[in-house]
Formats: sequence, structure tokens, C-alpha cells
Amino acid sequence: MSLFRNTVWFLKGLKEYTRGGYQAASKNFKEQDLDVDCTGRHYMITGANSGIGKCIATEIAKRGGNIHMVCRNSTTAEEAKKEIVEISGNENVFVHILDMSQPKSVHQFANDFENSNESLHALINNAGCMVNQRELTEDNLEKNFATNTLGTYILTRSLLPLLKKSEKARVVIVTSGGMLVQKLNTDDLQFEKMNPFDGTMAYAQNKRQQVVMTERLAVQHPEIHFSCMHPGWADTPAVRSSMPDFYNKMKDKLRTPEEGADTAVWLAISPSAELHKSGLFFQDRTPVSTHLPLAWTKVCSDVEEKLMKSLEELAVQFS
Ligand SMILES: NC(=O)c1ccc[n+]([C@@H]2O[C@H](COP(=O)([O-])OP(=O)(O)OC[C@H]3O[C@@H](n4cnc5c(N)ncnc54)[C@H](OP(=O)(O)O)[C@@H]3O)[C@@H](O)[C@H]2O)c1
Repeated sequence: MSLFRNTVWFLKGLKEYTRGGYQAASKNFKEQDLDVDCTGRHYMITGANSGIGKCIATEIAKRGGNIHMVCRNSTTAEEAKKEIVEISGNENVFVHILDMSQPKSVHQFANDFENSNESLHALINNAGCMVNQRELTEDNLEKNFATNTLGTYILTRSLLPLLKKSEKARVVIVTSGGMLVQKLNTDDLQFEKMNPFDGTMAYAQNKRQQVVMTERLAVQHPEIHFSCMHPGWADTPAVRSSMPDFYNKMKDKLRTPEEGADTAVWLAISPSAELHKSGLFFQDRTPVSTHLPLAWTKVCSDVEEKLMKSLEELAVQFS
């Protein structure tokens, strides 16, 4: 079954996730959808120093938004900030240093941000990693889970009160179409039973968790517009370093980071995105299925609730 899923997914990817897929899909984009004045509005983008996150930050900065870059490395963050300011001519770009894999720091950061900022109009959870060995953080959490799932959950949950102060605030999660090969598994969040450890599958499971999180948060918080998206296969540092074989085979077919960022920008700022109901999964500005046909990846709602309960328990444990 897993071979079937992987094959179907890869063939789908060759058609849809590549640069060719973007070029075909973008013929249906409406240019005016991104004619948006973001002046006076605040946008937080995690992992905004690199790849897709930097492109999202740049596009929103060009439209006048106040940009809050949340990054773990101050040197690369400041370099990226300089570039974003130069390209956009917008000086309202701010760097915040945070390691998303450290849950206590995520809580602390969100509290500090809430106390020193009056508003937040959109949170774009873009930071992500694929660590190919099973590594534990100082809190004894598996690194991919701590960064991709728990960090995203704690940051989002903690910023909800601030987001709710803005009318129609948005939360966007940059997930991955790779999640289509995974069925939600709530019994092994730390991948203790995954033997041998497989970073690609751990990452895909985290990305499935992000999709479920988006759907569930949308129901719990109807005042906010939640969405998640797949950027397609884009040429970024993460793909080069975490998936070297894939990168070498696919490098001529990959999207640019700008093309990968397009749907996240659209979801964060466009009035057209808001016309879709909250909680959906998007690819190239279109809501798409969260399951491959005949892949048996659907689970009952109890399993999804169990994920949310486990995340909430961990969020409280590390607060
Ligand atoms: N590129 C693709 O084809 C593709 C496909 C599907 C999904 N995605 C998703 O797109 C998002 C952006 O990735 P990318 O491809 O643009 O790669 P990237 O250029 O390497 O960007 C990843 C970003 O996440 C940051 N990050 C990783 N771990 C972090 C942590 N613990 N704390 C704070 N920041 C952390 C990185 O910071 P450093 O620079 O300090 O490492 C970097 O800024 C990810 O969520 C990824 O899963 C990408």
C-alpha cells in the first residue's frame, strides 16, 4: 500500500508540483488577486530568512505590510532583512529570534510579542525541517516533531488571542503534499517505534499533522481564517540539504522559491482566498483533497481529536 501511495504521489508530483505544474496552474490565476495594500497590517512569518519564507516576507513587504520575521539565526535573519528592505523599499521589517523546536521559548516569545504588539493580522507558519536522523531536543522531543508540529501548534495557539483582536485574521501553514502518503498516527508522535528511522516519512507525518491541526483549529476558532498549503517542489536550501538525491534528480524541474511562495502569499493577503471556507488545504490557489484516491489514509475523528489533545497536553506541559 505504501508503495502504491508513493508511486501515485510521485506521478502526481511530476505533473503538478514541478515548475511545469506551476506554469499550467498559474494560467488560471487572477493577477488582481494580489493587488492588495497591506499598509498598517502586521504579518508574522516563521523561517523568513530563507527559501519560501523569505519570498513570502518580500512579497508582503512590497505591498506595505509590517513584517515580523521569526528566525533562529540572527546573522542570516539580519542579512535577509536587509535584502527584503532593499527589494521592497519597506523599512517596517522586524527580526525576532526564536528556535521553533524549543516549546518553552515559543511560549515565551508569543507572550512577549502579545505584550508588545497591538495587532497581528496574519501568522504564516512556514519554518520547517527534515532531520534525517532521530535527534532529540534538550526537552527530549524528537526534532522534526518539535519543530514542525509542536512548535507550530504552540505558536498558533498562543497568538490566537492577539489574532482575534483583528477582524478576519488569518493563519496559514506551509505544509507539504508529501503528507498525502501518510495516514495520521497519534500513537508514536516521537517516532520511537519507527525502525529504522526515516526522516522523509517522519516529516510527511508531521505535515499530515499540520493539515489535521488546520482543519481542527478552523472549527474551534471560526473568527479566524485558517488554511494550509503545498508549495509544490521548490528549489530551496532545505530541499538541497535534506533531500540531495531528490534534488539531483529533479533540479531542472523544480519551481523557484517565489513560485513555491505564491499560494501562501495569496492565502495571507488576498480577499479571494477568504471566499473559501476556513480549514482547507490549497495547491496553486485552489483547495484540493487531503487524501489520494484509494490510499486509505483517512482516519476517524477520534484519532484527530487525540492528536489535538496530545498537542494541548504537551503545550501545557512545556508552558
Ligand atoms: N521547498 C519545497 O519543495 C517544499 C515542499 C513542501 C513543503 N515545503 C515547506 O516549506 C517550508 C519552507 O521550507 P523551504 O523549502 O523554503 O526551506 P528553507 O529555505 O530551508 O527554509 C526553512 C526555514 O525554516 C527555518 N527553520 C527550520 N527549523 C527551525 C527552527 N527550529 N526554528 C526556527 N526556524 C527554523 C529555517 O531556518 P534556518 O535557515 O536557520 O535553517 C528556514 O528559515 C517548510 O515548512 C517546508 O517543509 C517546502
